[in-house]
Amino acid sequence: DTIDGKGKFVFPGLIDVHTHLREPGQEDKEDILSGSRAAVRGGFTTILAMANTQPVIDNRALVEFVRMQGERAGYAHIHPIGAVTKGMQGAELVEMSNMKEGGAVAFSDDGKNIHNAEVMRLALEYAKLTGLLIISHCEDKDLAGDGQMRRGVASARMGLKGIPASAESVIVARDLQLAEETGGRLHLAHISTVESVELIRRAKERGVDVTAEVNPHHLIFCDEEMGITDTFFKVNPPLGSRVDREALIEGLRDGTLDMIATDHAPHTQAEKTRPFAEAPFGIASLETALSAVWQHLVVPGRISMDRVIEAWSFSPAQRFGLQGGSLVPGSPADMVLFDPEFSEVIEPATLVSKARNTPFLNKTLQGCPVMVWVEGRLVQKNRTVL
Ligand code: DOR
Ligand code: ZN
Ligand code: ZN
Repeated sequence: DTIDGKGKFVFPGLIDVHTHLREPGQEDKEDILSGSRAAVRGGFTTILAMANTQPVIDNRALVEFVRMQGERAGYAHIHPIGAVTKGMQGAELVEMSNMKEGGAVAFSDDGKNIHNAEVMRLALEYAKLTGLLIISHCEDKDLAGDGQMRRGVASARMGLKGIPASAESVIVARDLQLAEETGGRLHLAHISTVESVELIRRAKERGVDVTAEVNPHHLIFCDEEMGITDTFFKVNPPLGSRVDREALIEGLRDGTLDMIATDHAPHTQAEKTRPFAEAPFGIASLETALSAVWQHLVVPGRISMDRVIEAWSFSPAQRFGLQGGSLVPGSPADMVLFDPEFSEVIEPATLVSKARNTPFLNKTLQGCPVMVWVEGRLVQKNRTVL
């Protein structure tokens, strides 16, 4: 069979280093099968599963469970991220690690404890010894408090409790300093403020071993554009100002921000239709992220498609030590055919994720992955998961 690639892009299967697949424990929101189908529908052939499940992925058996469920699903490659928890010893991290033997690909906080500086420092010291990568979610829980969106003119106008930008950047500053002091390998998740970008830029100039990711929603939206009742824009870290958004785009262009990652955070309709203050944080984005970045950033000339592909495949492959991210002959063909003309209405009926919590619901997105291969096997064709 010949494939007509005229006017289309071919690139390596995308690698998403930040997804919440909710299994074990919250399978009403998503599970590993539905999440990996959503991944290949969106052009992702490798995804990293965050550790904040119920229970949290903090032992070897759970790491192996996530890996096994990923293999059973048989779509994207699923790599578990392990959790670092207060009171944990280095030996427990070792036991969970060694990816080649089925261990975790990196370590992150358990959703509660890495705001503890001592835990972070120990994890980074340990990372220095073993070469592990430590992911920080960069949130000061005290400063964030029970805020609902970014603190600023928009939160004041909407009468919603705000989360100050410093809730992120003080932890970015802290963790950069801890990485510098220990020599540990640090990865910063979902960077969303101008202050954070500036701190990372300066740390990289000093040679700190750090990479950082940015989410599509922070590159595309800002707090002033968010509707007060629309909980589909409620996300953590919250959408920033226009100034933040510009700084993030610039940071992605100049390499201060190394990667794009979705932070796919599926929730049920019941949860997301609660009043704003009671709805959970999170945007489900595996199926829309690439199209949204194409339409809102590449088409208007804000960023090049080459940079997008680099930041969503080569860069994560390198930093996380993964296969993929290349079309070198002989390597497994995790590959995408992307049609910039293909447009689609984002409808509940066509989404394969269990979640519908996307700001693009019932909107049209143009530019879609129309064929996706995992290890040479066609797993998505014309937007249908095979
Ligand atoms: O909005 C978010 N939701 N941000 C996160 O970092 C966590 C996620 C979740 O687990 O729902
Ligand atoms: Zn997070
Ligand atoms: Zn997350």
